[in-house]
Amino acid sequence: MAAPNIDTIVSLAKRRGFVFPSSEIYGGLGSAWDYGSLGVELCNNVKQAWWQWMVHERDDIEGVDSSIILNRLVWQYSGHEATFHDPLVDCRECKSRLRADKLDFEEGALPTDVGEIAQLITQKRARCTNCGSTDLTEPRPFNMMFRTMLGAAADENDPSALAYLRPETAQGIFINFLNVQTTMRRKIPFGIAQIGKSFRNEITPGNFILRTREFEQMEMEYFVRPDAEHSKLVDEWVEQYLEWFVGLGLARDNLQLHEVPAEELAHYSKRTVDIMYRYFPERPEAERQWEELMGIAYRTDFDLRSHSNKPTDGEGNRINPDSTDDLSFFDDGRKERFYPHVIEPAAGVNRTVLAVLMDAYSEKTNDKGETRVILKLRPQLAPIKAAILPLAKNKPEIVGMAKAIKRSLQPVLRAVYDDTGGIGKLYARQDEIGTPFCVTVDHQSLEDEAVTVRDRDTWEQDRVKVADLPEHLQARLRG
Ligand code: GAP
Repeated sequence: MAAPNIDTIVSLAKRRGFVFPSSEIYGGLGSAWDYGSLGVELCNNVKQAWWQWMVHERDDIEGVDSSIILNRLVWQYSGHEATFHDPLVDCRECKSRLRADKLDFEEGALPTDVGEIAQLITQKRARCTNCGSTDLTEPRPFNMMFRTMLGAAADENDPSALAYLRPETAQGIFINFLNVQTTMRRKIPFGIAQIGKSFRNEITPGNFILRTREFEQMEMEYFVRPDAEHSKLVDEWVEQYLEWFVGLGLARDNLQLHEVPAEELAHYSKRTVDIMYRYFPERPEAERQWEELMGIAYRTDFDLRSHSNKPTDGEGNRINPDSTDDLSFFDDGRKERFYPHVIEPAAGVNRTVLAVLMDAYSEKTNDKGETRVILKLRPQLAPIKAAILPLAKNKPEIVGMAKAIKRSLQPVLRAVYDDTGGIGKLYARQDEIGTPFCVTVDHQSLEDEAVTVRDRDTWEQDRVKVADLPEHLQARLRG
């Protein structure tokens, strides 16, 4: 089973220390969330799993970590200043500001572009999602990049001090293409991966960590020849990602593909396939159950060409007179120079974490008829791998032995010690946060130097010698 809805995860996440509403003591900040002690471990484990899979286990990918604030010209030539817009409408009735494509449209009306949305608004066939009014303004473009000013003396209106928080990590990769390619002595094809925060001034953020203004991306730009089979490469990356997500514990049935229609493609994309996750299983209409988990785009040579100082327009003028370099690649073997084309798998850390939590959620009834939540996280992702629990916390020898076992495990896996409740309560707490193993130290342990290892999913218990414990747990964690 999976979580019946996102709200179930919101409440578990807050109750158990995965995710808290941000700035709560000041009334919160719309759709901002803070990751708690378990949440930060889970996020780190997702990112580590991705980096291991994407960079370390492949021969053709390098990593980078670029600045969040880049020269403003990066966003001018990437096209984001001119086109990174969402269509915004105001409700005249309740004064809400809404994303035009997220309005409630009359049944059967499925607009595919802003022109059609404007028509539906004029015909009063679109409603405010907040109050239901049809008294809405025309859609107008709203740039989603967060602006900031650089330098202590910056004047609010000084364009030379204007900068943006990056809305995608990808551009930090493109502007470093030559640096990485030459220092790492790479030939085409190869890829560059990056994990990091991105920022978008979303008009209507919401649904917990699904759509926020600050989020984290795991992006990879794969550089290939202009005559490569680009569409086939997109399909190959889709397949590899489906496999990766299933390996992280997502049910294949909860994943679906969406070929983005031509009129909805980003300005740089010739083809994009989104991998969708069933974040809203409770919705009766099947098509409304899905939201994007990640996208795989064919970005052509758009970015490297735009950031290069050589390409010219039809009249012979340089399209980028500001760049100091040419980001083309010289193929020694073929004696040929070209701008590499790019296949980009772009995933969100937060959306992956939410999907992982939803799919791991399960309930089980114990022999007293009580329902227990079990978070069946893959061991690799579990924030805590083993909890060491003393059966009697008033017995110093048992407590001492349990603490010593915990200390001995710490260098090899994430272990915690807990004596803040009866054993049943302690087991339930660890089940709910996804800890694969509970290790119980009891009276007999003092005699036989052995402990009980309880499995989260089956609740079965094995007796294991303390000396064998690190190896035993590591083997079972590897699966
Ligand atoms: N470089 C391409 C790019 O950024 P995107 O589809 O806009 O493509 C990639 O973003 C992924 O980043 C999305 O599939 C999603 O997982 C994540 N993402 C985008 N906007 C987000 C937001 N407001 N909140 C949380 N995650 C977001």
